[in-house]
Amino acid sequence: MRDPVFPHRHLLGIEGLSPAEINHLLDLSDRYVELNRGPDKTSDSLRGRTIVNLFFENSTRTRTSFELAAKRLGANVINMQVNASSVSKGETLIDTAVTLNAMHPDVLAVRHPDSGAVKLLADKVNCGVVNGGDGSHEHPTQALLDALTIRRRRGRLSGLLVAICGDVLHSRVARSNFHLLLTMGAQVRIIAPRTLIPSAIERLGVEVFTDMTAGLKDVDIVMMLRVQNERMRGSFIPSVREYFRFFGLDQAKLEQAKPDALIMHPGPMNRGTEIDSDVADDFERSVIREQVELGVAVRMAVLEVLAQNNIAEAAERANAQVRAGQ
Ligand code: NCD
Repeated sequence: MRDPVFPHRHLLGIEGLSPAEINHLLDLSDRYVELNRGPDKTSDSLRGRTIVNLFFENSTRTRTSFELAAKRLGANVINMQVNASSVSKGETLIDTAVTLNAMHPDVLAVRHPDSGAVKLLADKVNCGVVNGGDGSHEHPTQALLDALTIRRRRGRLSGLLVAICGDVLHSRVARSNFHLLLTMGAQVRIIAPRTLIPSAIERLGVEVFTDMTAGLKDVDIVMMLRVQNERMRGSFIPSVREYFRFFGLDQAKLEQAKPDALIMHPGPMNRGTEIDSDVADDFERSVIREQVELGVAVRMAVLEVLAQNNIAEAAERANAQVRAGQ
């Protein structure tokens, strides 16, 4: 049977998900946090299933996190790292999708440097697909793990004031977080230099600041973003020193936030560019390590739900064939 609350075949983005669907994935993840903290970290809910990690872009933590999640559920895992720039991108993508599909995987976890590429691939396969980050579009499991971290610390998401700071323009993490946080009733501010603010972003319902002191005033959560040099074509920031001076999170700027504000960062961090080491390693307030920990639980929940839906869908297809043959 498909998951009654989350009956979808893929998780390509947060945009369009309902509060009930998001809460359901977070509730399932909570259960896995407990399992992961116990002595026996394994379950056999995906025994006999095959999960393929298909990464067209370098990644350490997200790929490892998906791999660990699948292994803890007892699945067989294959990691494929494809160099997207070596061959014509469109061709590689579709070829790879069709080849993998012939091997009957249950779920593909896919990362690609182009926005929309994961959806293109999902349309060509008949297994579940989870987006592990596509260009500057979406990174749904990152937003879910951020939400789980906040929810476990604060007991809720609604009514919180969240500042998302830095390279918003190039960030799929920011985009998935806007959708998730706004859907769950949080208030979102972005703080960035003008060159790194996407056009017409206010239309989503976020408040825009170009000054850290004003933007951080009384916030509950400070979410820092990595300066994504690899996605910048042209000059977006004057210099690292200047960027840190105005937009880097340090103790002085943090004073504007609520005294118990949580500090978050999706990693990898550029210490001294967008965040000061003192703040990143302030374990009273920084939950950066917890984000990594909870990421595994979130990916376990997502893989489990998608694999279950995939099995149900295969059974529905087989039944339909039998009926058609009668
Ligand atoms: C993020 C990503 O790849 O989008 N990192 C991650 O998933 N851990 C953010 C980033 O690379 O800055």
